[in-house]
Amino acid sequence: MSATSIATVLVQGASRGIGLQFCRTLLSRQPNTCVIATCRNPNQADDLQKLLADEPERLQVLQVDVTEEAKIKAAAEEVGKRHGRLDLLINCAGVLHPSGRGETSLRDVNMQGLMETCRTIAFGPLLMGKHFGQLLTKGTAMFGTHQPDCKRTHSGIMANISAKVGSITDNGLGGWYSYRMSKAALNMATKNLSIELGRGRTPVICVSLHPGTVDTDLSRPYHKNVKSLFTTEDSVKKLLSVVDSLTVDDTGKFFTYNKELLPF
Ligand SMILES: NC(=O)c1ccc[n+]([C@@H]2O[C@H](COP(=O)([O-])OP(=O)(O)OC[C@H]3O[C@@H](n4cnc5c(N)ncnc54)[C@H](OP(=O)(O)O)[C@@H]3O)[C@@H](O)[C@H]2O)c1
Repeated sequence: MSATSIATVLVQGASRGIGLQFCRTLLSRQPNTCVIATCRNPNQADDLQKLLADEPERLQVLQVDVTEEAKIKAAAEEVGKRHGRLDLLINCAGVLHPSGRGETSLRDVNMQGLMETCRTIAFGPLLMGKHFGQLLTKGTAMFGTHQPDCKRTHSGIMANISAKVGSITDNGLGGWYSYRMSKAALNMATKNLSIELGRGRTPVICVSLHPGTVDTDLSRPYHKNVKSLFTTEDSVKKLLSVVDSLTVDDTGKFFTYNKELLPF
């Protein structure tokens, strides 16, 4: 198999939950896919290590704490040397709040919670865009769809896993200050990145995606109130269908798992 026929994907935040499932699903659905999984503590990521033992040829694990720019830069240099391009980047790392629960009112808000949540959810993915942007511009449109009537085709795709609660327009309940603000900021980063990485002849498609409410550690404290809780398998399958359908016209937008457009 030639290097150009192998799709190269990076999943950032891959130790567990939705990120780990992206790695599993991508490796199982396409034999010609190479996945680079990044996480902050590879030695403690037992399930990711099991996947690595099963797929040593097609899975590579790199240590990246997404709040540390030096680690992001080093990972981009490593991927550049080894692969020379990136077809799909999925920014997945997230934290609801360092306490494990979103703020219910102003009295719960504090600087440390705001900073930690925003650093992981909003600033990290933007810095991933900064350091991996060039590799995405060399991506080969192995994901997404080319519209025959469109003069431009895309290169790579950057999918930022956001959340519906990050929609300012949709916010009817309040609360969860750190998480809502971080996801709203992430959505702005998506929009800005779509403009800057969209200027070339082969633009990078940048989108924010809402995965639904998914059965993971992050949402666990709230499961009893949820009417339809997705498994990670269901959510990732739907999200990859959205990724497969993306065209240049979709860049800069915010979609649900079934490609409904969400307002910012
Ligand atoms: N679950 C839901 O219902 C839901 C709904 C909407 C949106 N989302 C979004 O989906 C994404 C994945 O969440 P999840 O549900 O899969 O949560 P999860 O199971 O709690 O996983 C969170 C992941 O983020 C990683 N992470 C946290 N801080 C990090 C950092 N500084 N550097 C690198 N990795 C870091 C964790 O790594 P460690 O193992 O090292 O902690 C873990 O892999 C998040 O962006 C979340 O906001 C989830």
